[in-house]
Amino acid sequence: MKKTLCLYYTRTNATRMAAELLAQHLGADLAEYTDGKDRRGIRGYLGACIDSFKKTLPNVYIMGPHRPYEYERVIVCMPVWAEGPAIVGKALLAKCREDFPEDVCFVVTHMAKTDYEKKINALDAYLKTPHRAHLSLRTKNNPQLKYEIRVFAEQIGK
Ligand SMILES: Cc1cc2nc3c(=O)[nH]c(=O)nc-3n(C[C@H](O)[C@H](O)[C@H](O)COP(=O)(O)O)c2cc1C
Repeated sequence: MKKTLCLYYTRTNATRMAAELLAQHLGADLAEYTDGKDRRGIRGYLGACIDSFKKTLPNVYIMGPHRPYEYERVIVCMPVWAEGPAIVGKALLAKCREDFPEDVCFVVTHMAKTDYEKKINALDAYLKTPHRAHLSLRTKNNPQLKYEIRVFAEQIGK
């Protein structure tokens, strides 16, 4: 079994729930990362919109004791903001680049039926080596959500 860490950023818990379920399937550890900003409610939403267009990446940190360099595989989970992976997720990749193992996967959650494939692949610009696999996961009105997470877990394997 690969020693795996699932890292997630969440504003409204959708990505957290996906990361939790995936971690359960894989027997992985779980940790939240954040830029420390309160993004609750409409003010938080608007702040996230504004931040999405900033050129500078925010400062992020991983909560709790788990650190990526202790793992053989890291799965970075993040939501889509303004038609692309959230700036907080990109900031984590930029910050932890040197600490990540070769095996990095992404789970990117979103509301729309849009295909975010290209933008997820573009996250490789933040990594030393291209990511191994990803799941583009629609969180709203998706009765297949749990199934899609299970299939992804089986695809990448324990
Ligand atoms: C500022 C902001 C912008 C968003 N933009 C998009 C978008 O362009 N496309 C989309 O499908 N979902 C978009 N969403 C919805 C989130 O990606 C989606 O609800 C996600 O699953 C939320 O995860 P969370 O609850 O873990 O924060 C946006 C959410 C926020 C807060």
